[in-house]
Amino acid sequence: MDGGSGPGPEPVTAAGPSPAPELAPEADPDVEPLPRGRFRCRLCQVAAANRPSLAEHLRGKKHQRLRSLRAERRAQEQRSLFVSGFARGTAAEELAAYFGAFGEVVAVVMDKEKGAYAIVELQEAASREQALAQPQHTLAGRSLRVRPREQKDFTRPSLGCGARREPLSPGQLEQALCQAADVDTQMEQLVGLLELSEGERRLRHLLVTLFQEVFSEFFPGCTVLPFGSSVNGFDAHGCDLDLLLDLEPTKSLQTSARGAPGARSSGDPGAEESILSDIDLASASPPEVLELVVAVLRRCVPGVRRVRAVPTARRPVVKFSHKQSGLAGDISIDNRLALHNTQFLRLCGEADKRVRPLVYAVRLWAKQQGLAGNPAGGGPLLTNYALTLLVLFFLQTRSPPVLPTVARLRELAGDEDRMVVAGWDCSFPQDAALLEPSANSESPSSLLAEFFRVFGDFDFSEQLVSLREGRVLPLPEAGEPFKLGSLNLQDPFELSHNVAANVNEKTASRLGRCCRDAAKYCRSLQYCRKSTKGRGWGLVRLFKPGAVEPGAGAGSFLISITVAAAQPPSQLCEEPGGHGFKEICAAIAFVLRDVLQCSCVPGKPLKQVGASGAEHSLPQDTVLGDEPLGDAAGLEEEPLQPPVGSKRPQSDRMDGTALPGAKRPRVNGPEEEVVASWSCAVWHRVWMGRRRLRRQLLHGASPEEPDGVSLELEQKVSEAIVQHEGAARPPEPLLRFEASAQLAGGTQRELRVLLRLAPTPAPGPLFRDFFHFLQAFLPLAVQQHLGWGPGAAPQS
Ligand code: UTP
Repeated sequence: MDGGSGPGPEPVTAAGPSPAPELAPEADPDVEPLPRGRFRCRLCQVAAANRPSLAEHLRGKKHQRLRSLRAERRAQEQRSLFVSGFARGTAAEELAAYFGAFGEVVAVVMDKEKGAYAIVELQEAASREQALAQPQHTLAGRSLRVRPREQKDFTRPSLGCGARREPLSPGQLEQALCQAADVDTQMEQLVGLLELSEGERRLRHLLVTLFQEVFSEFFPGCTVLPFGSSVNGFDAHGCDLDLLLDLEPTKSLQTSARGAPGARSSGDPGAEESILSDIDLASASPPEVLELVVAVLRRCVPGVRRVRAVPTARRPVVKFSHKQSGLAGDISIDNRLALHNTQFLRLCGEADKRVRPLVYAVRLWAKQQGLAGNPAGGGPLLTNYALTLLVLFFLQTRSPPVLPTVARLRELAGDEDRMVVAGWDCSFPQDAALLEPSANSESPSSLLAEFFRVFGDFDFSEQLVSLREGRVLPLPEAGEPFKLGSLNLQDPFELSHNVAANVNEKTASRLGRCCRDAAKYCRSLQYCRKSTKGRGWGLVRLFKPGAVEPGAGAGSFLISITVAAAQPPSQLCEEPGGHGFKEICAAIAFVLRDVLQCSCVPGKPLKQVGASGAEHSLPQDTVLGDEPLGDAAGLEEEPLQPPVGSKRPQSDRMDGTALPGAKRPRVNGPEEEVVASWSCAVWHRVWMGRRRLRRQLLHGASPEEPDGVSLELEQKVSEAIVQHEGAARPPEPLLRFEASAQLAGGTQRELRVLLRLAPTPAPGPLFRDFFHFLQAFLPLAVQQHLGWGPGAAPQS
């Protein structure tokens, strides 16, 4: 830990009356040299540009004040005791009176929140030694546990908000990225903008230390070990704090203590109050151990909130959040493999400098598209771990590879790296310097584009993604422990584990679709070239949901509605503004207004733009003038590598959008037709909890039953949400957006309409959630209303 905690002597400084021989400032144990002649004072956490400014800082008031505070704290610690085991409700005065027998008590600090322990400070260090020398302490019939107070590293910030950094707002991130010179620089910058700051890392370290300190009191010998994003090299502001509480040493201690003569019997007066009580950890079931962990967290760790055990998870955990730091975390009691796969991820991040920028870019893209993340209670999205593995697999399959396969890493492992955990071989070198450098010379930005191209056309359900082999394998036979699903991604070490088993078909197919849209965007000028007009370009548009779909502008979100008819209405293919198109527009308004209870006020009738391309008025959608994407932008597709695991040759693409030279209907160019627009407002969170409400309204029957559900039911669901939120309209809507519909293409049997949503002000997470819901809900609801489509129930 580097919080100015060097155990060395207090350095001599030039402050003071007698001009003692001045120590070279850089010899101060609090000082750390930095590159280019700079220095950092670890105690005050400030950097100095050169020696004179360092010397000035060391003489300054702030540094001197912190030094004396540290000295005082250390002396205090050496006079203090950590006391637990007393009855709940015991007063500080009672403890002061009891320890007064050993010497003058200066202070008793009770654990404010839970009252489970106290720090007793004595006037003299010798008094503390006397108290410690006494083998038994009993207060009010209870056996006290009395230990020296832990010597803590001195750190300037408290566990509070000091080291907390507000996450960058989407606007700030966008602004920073727009200024980069090219996409490679944007990717590099992204890592710097998202990764944990030094203060945040220190805060996590302090929390781990706090947990270790408290758990050691109740589970002697245990260790608290961080894993996951805090330590795997793919950290981001606010990421979870995953911890493993290793109780193996405690179990051994407990077993040997039970066998020893004079072992504590259950009749011990302190036993029933002790959290560990009589539980034998070696024979306790995981839920019992989790309950103990819950009890320790609730009663003894200051600032910890929302503690709950999740015993049914594949790896049972206790979830918690920490008030002052705002961090959320999980404590596992049985997940040693995670320590090793964390180390593996770290090794991959260090093996090649393109890995981290690529993982950060893919992770943020997937989060923004609602494809990945770790929502509380699981869900059908990819976990961040699964998504990271997918990127690593992609890098293993480049030609030449950027990363070695896990099998190759096993060959490179030295004797000291050989490791089998829970029966799985986890051998790989610990040091990235031992790996052969990659001969691959692709840039990060082209790797990102290739990632989307490869997975845009990937058959996730019919093959096994193997990081061990670095290639796809046939699916395991049914009946094997590997849980087959819509996405089959094998853990690199625990080979029977599908890390994407939770991903449902809808998410898997959306992943493919989003990758195809992103791949298409990556071939446009807007991805490759910095905008000269100050518009979003490169990564910026990639991170906006819906913004990279063909035809989307920089500030808008697109929903594509295709209405197919088994027996097309006679005028389905009429020109824009004709009967078919008008009916679709009316259906859109109906769904927004009547089904989803949004306000939806028609805008001024908009003129159409004829094939002549003559100028006509367009809605107040400032982004319509953006450079068009893809082929319309005049970019040729690059020659393609045969993608790993692709479903079909690129030329067979169903939508035809990626065919070199193939034309899609231009929706952004001069032939654009915009014939309907609305000003909309959303007043209630009508996108949340619909599935549950549907079930309730159907009295437990599944909405997916053959006869489907009606829009009538969807209306009732929205009404129930509105009622639940208080029925009356809030003074201000939750969201406002302008919507405009345009015809994007049509055939004898189907019509495609693009609905563009332009939120005002700039979209936040709430709008993104609403948009993701609407993207799935609206097309089906419109089809259903018109009775032209397949009539499937909206799945949201
Ligand atoms: P996460 O999916 O939470 O990944 O898994 P993360 O990188 O920590 O991302 P955040 O925290 O959401 O930002 C956490 C860790 O749990 C283990 C891995 O060690 C992973 O790094 N894990 C997760 C598994 O071992 N198997 C799994 O299927 C999932």
